[in-house]
Amino acid sequence: MDARSAGNEQHVRPTVRRLTMADRHRATSFIFDRWGADVVVVHGEVYQPAQLPGFVAEWEGRWCGLVTYRIEEAECEIVTLDSAEPRQGIGTALLAAVEGAARMTGCLRLWLMTTNDNLGALRFYQRRGFALVAVHRNAVGRARRLKPAIPHIGDYGIPLRDEIELEKLLT
Ligand SMILES: CC(C)(COP(=O)(O)OP(=O)(O)OC[C@H]1O[C@@H](n2cnc3c(N)ncnc32)[C@H](O)[C@@H]1OP(=O)(O)O)[C@@H](O)C(=O)NCCC(=O)NCCS
Repeated sequence: MDARSAGNEQHVRPTVRRLTMADRHRATSFIFDRWGADVVVVHGEVYQPAQLPGFVAEWEGRWCGLVTYRIEEAECEIVTLDSAEPRQGIGTALLAAVEGAARMTGCLRLWLMTTNDNLGALRFYQRRGFALVAVHRNAVGRARRLKPAIPHIGDYGIPLRDEIELEKLLT
């Protein structure tokens, strides 16, 4: 798989491939760099993304993006999606990879949680067919009890409070 789009001037042309057992240590470091810990807390659950299935975007031996996900009862939850090189098509390529995996597994729903301050993610996912389906008020406060390092103020100085659920139906 190639993240290039014809006609785009790009500096990074990553290849997207499945995460393997051999990648787990590097995946842990990547997650730590992006999230300040090797765990993330969503909807009251603690996950170690590096232990989940996922896809990595690589360019010249360097990791420039990672998506991790979990599948349960015909639903696929994106647990983390990170691009280290914004606006190069990496996020889109990783999202396409996880959607492909979800469809191959027979999932009917692709979904995720993001936080109320993450306007970039809300924009990104809605532009790619996702809809907002729920606001889980004060969910971040509950998550903070499990992971005290979660800041109180998020992007753009917005108080970090709620989890917003987005979904894309795969029917
Ligand atoms: C959200 C996130 C994953 C997006 O990743 P990204 O690699 O920047 O995504 P893309 O490059 O595929 O797309 C971003 C925009 O850049 C544009 N773009 C892609 N390649 C481009 C290029 N060569 N030149 C100009 N623009 C380009 C895309 O069209 C897109 O714009 P659009 O939404 O208007 O269509 C990234 O911002 C991120 O890691 N955020 C922090 C973690 C996070 O919040 N994750 C989501 C919650 S789990």
